[in-house]
Formats: sequence, C-alpha cells, structure tokens
Amino acid sequence: MDKQRVSKTRGVTVQFLAGLLTLSALVSIFQSHASFTASERVKHVQIPLNAEDILGRCAALGVTPSPPANFYERTQSDRFEPGTKPLLIRNATLWTGRQDVLDAVAGDLYLDQGIIQAVGQVSVETLGRDVTVIDANGAWVTPGIIDVHSHLAVEPLPALEGAMDGNSLRGIAQPWLRSIDALNMHDEGYKHSIAGGITTSLILPGSANAIGGQAFVMKLRTTKERSPTSMLVEPPYSLNGSDADPSLPLRWRYMKHACGENPSRVYAGTRMDTAWAFRSAYGRARQIKVAQDDYCAKATAGEWNALSGQTFPEDLQWEALVDVLRGRVKVNTHCYEAVDFDDFVRLSNEFKFPVAAFHHAHEAYLVPELLKSAYGQTPAIAMFSTFSRYKREAYRHSEYAPRILAEQGIPVIMKSDHPAIQSRFLVNEAGYAHYYGLPENIALASVTSTPAVTLGLDHRIGFLKEGYDADVVIWDSHPLALGAAPAQVIIDGIAQIKPSYPAVKPKSSQRVLHTPKWDKEAKAAVDYDGLPPLGPAQSTKGVVVFTNVSSNWVKDRESSDLADLFASTEGPGAVVVRGGRVVCSSTLYDQCAPYIAANAENVHVDLRGGSLQPGLITTGSSIGLQEIAMEMSTTDGVAFDPLAADVPSIAGGVGYMPRAVDGLQFGSRDAMLAYRHGVTLAVSAPIHSSFLGGLSAAFSLGSMHKLEEGAVVQDIAALHVKLAPQGAPSVSTQVATLRHLLLNPVGEIGPYFQLVTNGTLPLVVEADSADIIATVIQLKRDVESEMGVLLRVTISGGGESHVLAKELGEASVGVILKPPRPYPLQWDHRRYLPGPPASADSTIATLLRHSVTVALGPQGVTNEDSMYTWAVRNLRFDAAWAHLEAPDVVDKASAAALVSSNAAKLLGLNIPSGDEDLVATVGGDLLSFEGKVMAVISPRRGTVDIF
Ligand SMILES: *[C@@H]1O[C@H](CO)[C@@H](O)[C@H](O)[C@H]1NC(C)=O
Ligand SMILES: *[C@@H]1O[C@H](CO)[C@@H](O)[C@H](O)[C@H]1NC(C)=O
Ligand SMILES: *[C@@H]1O[C@H](CO)[C@@H](O)[C@H](O)[C@H]1NC(C)=O
Ligand SMILES: *[C@@H]1O[C@H](CO)[C@@H](O)[C@H](O)[C@H]1NC(C)=O
Repeated sequence: MDKQRVSKTRGVTVQFLAGLLTLSALVSIFQSHASFTASERVKHVQIPLNAEDILGRCAALGVTPSPPANFYERTQSDRFEPGTKPLLIRNATLWTGRQDVLDAVAGDLYLDQGIIQAVGQVSVETLGRDVTVIDANGAWVTPGIIDVHSHLAVEPLPALEGAMDGNSLRGIAQPWLRSIDALNMHDEGYKHSIAGGITTSLILPGSANAIGGQAFVMKLRTTKERSPTSMLVEPPYSLNGSDADPSLPLRWRYMKHACGENPSRVYAGTRMDTAWAFRSAYGRARQIKVAQDDYCAKATAGEWNALSGQTFPEDLQWEALVDVLRGRVKVNTHCYEAVDFDDFVRLSNEFKFPVAAFHHAHEAYLVPELLKSAYGQTPAIAMFSTFSRYKREAYRHSEYAPRILAEQGIPVIMKSDHPAIQSRFLVNEAGYAHYYGLPENIALASVTSTPAVTLGLDHRIGFLKEGYDADVVIWDSHPLALGAAPAQVIIDGIAQIKPSYPAVKPKSSQRVLHTPKWDKEAKAAVDYDGLPPLGPAQSTKGVVVFTNVSSNWVKDRESSDLADLFASTEGPGAVVVRGGRVVCSSTLYDQCAPYIAANAENVHVDLRGGSLQPGLITTGSSIGLQEIAMEMSTTDGVAFDPLAADVPSIAGGVGYMPRAVDGLQFGSRDAMLAYRHGVTLAVSAPIHSSFLGGLSAAFSLGSMHKLEEGAVVQDIAALHVKLAPQGAPSVSTQVATLRHLLLNPVGEIGPYFQLVTNGTLPLVVEADSADIIATVIQLKRDVESEMGVLLRVTISGGGESHVLAKELGEASVGVILKPPRPYPLQWDHRRYLPGPPASADSTIATLLRHSVTVALGPQGVTNEDSMYTWAVRNLRFDAAWAHLEAPDVVDKASAAALVSSNAAKLLGLNIPSGDEDLVATVGGDLLSFEGKVMAVISPRRGTVDIF
C-alpha cells in the first residue's frame, strides 16, 4: 500500500517537473520564434511582457497535490519547536496504523526533531544523554487520533455568542469562506480534546450552507506563536496568496459541503434548492476553468494575438471551487440520506470531481453501490457510532453501519462533529463501533490511518513509522476498551498532558477484547431498510431456565447494596423464572432440577458465562416523550413557560402543572434500543426549556402502551424545576419564584409544592453552576428551618457539583450527573472537573468520596433533555466507565447502583423489594464490552422478554 503511494507520488512529481521543463522550453521557443519571424510578422505577434508569468501559471494548472519527493529525507519537522528534547517510549505495544494485518508489535519508539526516528528495538545506550525515557510497561501506543470532522475553535467552549463563528448565514454557497479566519485561540476544547488523544483535526465550517467554505487541518497543541496559522498542517499556498513554490508540489485544500435538512432549514428551501445551489456554483466554477484552459491553450500555442487585451481568467470568490474541479481539494460533504447521496454523486459525475468523504452519512450502509459510483473514487464514510434519531435524516441510523460498510470495502472513519460529540471521546466512538462488529484493525484505523489517507496527509500522520510526525498516544488500556483514555499524548514530540493522572487499570485491560456477535442484527438492519423490528423475539409468562450463569447480582433487602450470589462458588449456576419472578437460583444445578427437568414448554437460555443483574434506570432525558427530537410532530412538545408568559387560564393559569405521564409515548426506537441494552425503567419530566419542568413519571421502556400491566410504574415521581442563566428572567428571579412557591404554596399549584415541603415529593433542581447549586443548598436549609421538615432535593446536571461535594454530602442533596463525564459546554459549568488523565479525580469519584448519592444521566450532546434520548442505550457503558476510571472509589456494584438503585432513591421511586427488573446478559455482564443483553425479567409485568 505504502510503496504504491510513494511511486504514485514520484509519478506526480516527475510530471510536475516535466511541466516546468515545458514551461521554460516553451518560453525560449516563443522568444526565438519571435525573433525568427521578426522581419515578416513583427506587427502581428505581440508577446506580452508577462508571458513567462502567464505560461508559468498555465503550466501549474495541471499540477495536483502530493508530498515533496524527498519528504522522508527531512531531518526535522517543519513543526519542530526548538528546544524539544528527544523522547524514547520503551516497551510498548505499538499499533502502527496498518489495516490489512493485525500489526501490534512489542517495541520502542524514538522521537526527535518532531519526527519518529525509530520504531522497534532501540537501545538507550546509543542515544544521547538528553533523552527523556517513558516506560510504557507494555501499554498500547498508537498514532495520534485524527478527527476529520471538528468545529473546534470555530465553535469554542464554553459556548458564548461572541465567538460562534461556525456558520455564515450570508449565502447558501460561499466557497470563499475559510475556517482559518475564525479559529479562536481560547477554546477550552483544545486541552479537553487532547486529553482524549486527539492530535490533529480537520476544522470544518458548519453545515448551514450547501457550500460552507474551506476547511483547514490543524494540530491541537499550543504553539509558541499562539496564532491560528501556526497551528496548521501543510497549509495550502492559496492561504496567503503566495505563489506556489515551483520546486515543490501543491498541498491539499479542503472544502465543506452540506446536503439535506440543514441548508433547507436555514435557507427556507428544499433539497431541490440546495441541489441547484451546488449546480449553479459548480457551473460558474466550470466556466472559469474552461476559460482558463482555453486561454492557456492559446498562450502555450503562442497565439498571443488572440489573447490581446485579455487577462488570465480568474475570480477570487470562485477560485477554490475551480481548484475542486482541478482535483486539488478534498471535498467533505455532510450528507445523510440515500436521496442526498444520489444528488451528490450525480453532481460529482456531472462536474467530474471526487468526494473525499461523506460525513454523518446515516444511510450510507443502505446504499454502498451508489457510493461506489461517485466520480473517481469511493468516498470515505465519516460517522457516529450511536448518536442518531435527533432528526429525521438520522432516523434509519444503524450501529452496525461501520461494519457493514467495512464489509463492502468502503473506508470507514469515526468522527466527532465536536462539540456535538466531544472529540475527547472519539476513540471511544471507535470502541463502540468495534463492540458492534467493526473488526479491531479497521476500528483502530478509523481514527488514525484511514482519516490520514482521506486527508491526503498519510505521508506524515496516522502511522507509527520512521519519518512520520511525532504524534503519539500512550493508552491506559486497549484503545478500543470501554472507557479507554490516554496516559500521555505527544504532538510534534512534545508531551501534552502535564501533569498526567492516568486511571490505573488492570493489566488485563490492555488485552484484545472479545465482543459479541451481531450478524443477525446487522443483516436485519439492511433487510428492513434501516428500521428492523426491535421488540423481543419472544415474551413469556411461563418458565424460563437460565443456565451457565456466572454471576447473579441481587439487591440486598436490608442495605439495598448489590451482591453477587454466585461469587463465592466455583462454576456457573442456574436461575429459574416463572411469571417474571425468580423461583430458584443456585450454582448447584440439582437444586433447581425440578424446573430444569425436561418440560417441553419451558424455555432454556444458555448465558454462556453471562450474568443476571438489576435492570437499569435512566433519568435526565426526554425518553418516552419523543421519537425524533427535531420533529415536533413526533414529540410531546414543549411545556409552557409560566415565567415568560401567562399560561392560558383554560390550562390552569398559575395553577398549571404539566405531568409527563399524560404525554408518554411507548415503543419509540430510542426506548426500545435502551431496553435492548438493559435499561428497563425511565423517569422523564415533561419537555421544557425553562423554569417549570413539571411532574416526572416513571415507566417501563419495554411496554407497548400505557394501559399494559406494569407499563406505568409511578404517575408522579418528582417535581422538576430548572435554574439556568438565560438572560431574562434572571437566575435570581427564578430562585425567587422557587422560594415563593415553596414558602407560599397557594392555588392549584400549591399542593404539589406542599408535597415537597412536607418531605414527600422529591424536588429535582436542574442546575450546573456551583453558585446556583450553593443557592439551592441555602434555600433548602431556609425552607427546612421554616417548615421543620427535611426536604428531598436532588440536583440534576451538576457540571460543577464537585466544587460543593462536601456541602452536598452534608446537606443530603444527591446529584444526577448529566452528562456523567462533564465538559465545559456552557459558561455555567466551565469549572468542570475533566477526570483522568487531565485531573486525578472524576466528578463522580469526588462526589462519592463525600457520601453524595449519585445517579447518572446519559452522555448526551447539549443542555436539552431532548438531545439525550439516543444516548440512554449507552448507560451501561457510562456506569462501567465510572468504575474503570476510579476503581478504588467506584467498585462494580456501586457502578451498577449509579444507574439503578441510586436513581430510584433520588427520584422517589417506591418499587417494592423483589419487584425490580432483572437483565440477563450472554457472554459477559452488562457493565462490559463482552456482554450482550439476552432477556429482561420483569416481576411487575409478570414476563420474560427474550431477544
Ligand atoms: C515490558 O512490559 C511487560 C508488561 O508489563 C513486562 O512483562 C516486561 O517485563 C517488560 N519488558 C521490559 C524489557 O521491560
Ligand atoms: C504563505 O503561506 C505559505 C504556506 O503556508 C508559507 O510557506 C509562506 O511562508 C507564507 N508567506 C508569507 C509571506 O507569510
Ligand atoms: C458455559 O459457557 C462457556 C462460555 O461460552 C462454555 O465454554 C461452556 O461450555 C458452557 N458450559 C456449559 C455447561 O454449557
Ligand atoms: C403532604 O402534603 C400533602 C398535600 O398537602 C398531603 O396530602 C400529605 O398528606 C402530606 N403528607 C405529610 C407526610 O404530611
């Protein structure tokens, strides 16, 4: 693969040099021709003074980008920071970037002058004295992670209006805009992303426009110069209008395009309008290209008279698109649906330009042949693992898409769309893709070498090879393991995380993982055109016998702690269920023999060393209230905001109190997927964007409608209010309102607040800022001393809750941490605790150390509950992550409690002991990448659902 690339490179270079020869040869020929014909034709041929210039430009038109032929002769990187010491990483498991074979070799890595100088066995003795040595102790080491879809720095964190520079709204097609012009240097995202191993990102303009503008590749480390330009990798010469150095080949340019919903929404148009925006822009670019080619044909033929009075045809606004047509630009297109791929593939063939990658591309796996028919080459597909269904274009998303596309030989890339998904967790996206069947090497390549190839930068990044940039990540576990995080990240030979606090993980976590088989599910995704049935294969009230059960976690009735009943015994056991209730469980098979004995009607399930564990409980999202967040007709809609406008008296006026139970929708795809991943119960508040959240309901995610037995677990779980900076009304006004309602519970709304102030109904206060949380603790104290009753108050959000861990513990205020791995999305939680390796403790560990009851919300993508529902399915992994990050504070049982019993406690769920759902997993347990959910046992519903 590599040899091919090098020879191709040389081919292009030779061609380029040939171009140069032609140029000077042509000029001298024309000059001699001119003098030769001077006597007879002097009046007729006017050679312009800048002829050499023009011929130079004409000769350069055919040149395409490639690395310089002598690239690997470099002894120092162009990005080398003088003074950087050489670095030796000893005893590592080196994954070099090759996709074709599993190529992880034990060895050392020597970095100097910003370049990888040696891969393999390096003896320290041969090196100078100034070498910093890192002993990797066998840990995995990979090339730096490359994110081909990032809005880092153009949409900096925390999000502030003064720096939202990702989308221009001035036109639907603006190829002249450049992301480099908006790279903010004060984005919290730089160090946050580096903490996840990101070393290089393609910074794309947003997707509001059909043509959003030019993108740029940057490395994330701070430079001495502190300027955006100094962060770029091989910036094109067009950047500053300097002429290409004729001794060097061109460098790649990048362009963002977007199809589908976004340009339609922003420009109040349709897909037809967007397609025309593309065609008219490319039509314009083609005219210019043809004019240039005609002009140059005449110039190189010496027909100067025909060009008299004409200048070289060009247009600064369209030159970047002309370069697309000349094959010098990597076109990156945001495109979701089959119809959009079809439009864009047609466009690429009409105007004859290749597409480097389709991004998001939620339906790509349904149309592989269409993708392969794009002009020139098959585009790479850059996607999310599970982030989906937020809009209708993403409705047919499949978590099996990466493996399906890989099977089709289509290049697979995982990307973040940072800050949509934080690029810090990009490697974990590859981990999820691997869990759902993407082969190990392709998964590793999907965030390293494949993006490097797609960017046209695989001569210097994406691989651990001699001569490549010294961008390297040392991992705390196998990079595809659950919760994998860097121990150290090196960019241009410079260690970036200082000091680094890697999580201490067992040796076994560096091993290759055994993930479940999903062949049937992947096939169904395609067979059902993206909407495979998600219900159980079988639902029974009869006897189900689970055999080969390694662990059987049950809740202790007294302490409500989880304990593994099978922990102390050798060998797996059996668990027998009838009518959705466990009737026998033992590691001694003969004790359950009467049930196990052949009865044709009994269902037998072999868990192959799997587990039984309590079903998970989710809260903090709008699951059960919507199908597609951005399609209002598929959701319950948004509650009135009584602080912003009078609620119609017919709806209760000041007595208005919405109840989620009245708006529940059962059987949504997010609900069923969450159910299939062990989340059996949800607590959701009405969808709201401001102060009054209303009353949440607890319900079963496995039920098909509200009237089914056990579908609604609790009509009213808790009373929700949100305290957030939103301009008007002020936070202090929101707090005044809450205080008023608690101390003067009058009118129709009164009884609900009385339930809060007499300690019956939990009050869930959504807040992230430590200042607001402190105010809530204060308010709780005030009301308690007034009423003489202890209030049940829970914080939801809690981005800065670690600041008040001690105070929260003392005040018995629990926290629903949402997202469980906080990040500085908004100003009111900029004081987030990043967690390992960027800080010693995680927020969860800090809270638990202070005896705060913690439950986990999903790892969603914005502040709105409605943008979290897709992520509920990952709750099991979020809990496991909390354990892996801080095993000394969060053991496996308390990790499970974070997503089950703690949530029940904080939300006031009154589930009788023994009525909790159980989840059976095959191959491993729920909190791992080995287990796969096989069945849900529900005493409340009296059933066992088998998938
Ligand atoms: C390399 O690391 C492995 C795993 O920790 C260890 O067993 C081995 O002894 C180390 N080898 C050297 C040469 O340090
Ligand atoms: C213009 O950009 C090119 C490519 O980054 C760079 O090599 C050159 O030094 C720049 N010229 C000036 C005058 O800044
Ligand atoms: C239990 O499952 C393991 C793992 O799949 C398998 O190797 C073993 O044979 C099974 N044991 C029984 C008794 O079925
Ligand atoms: C709390 O207040 C509600 C509403 O006024 C009332 O129905 C309930 O009995 C009270 N409970 C207690 C424990 O005081």
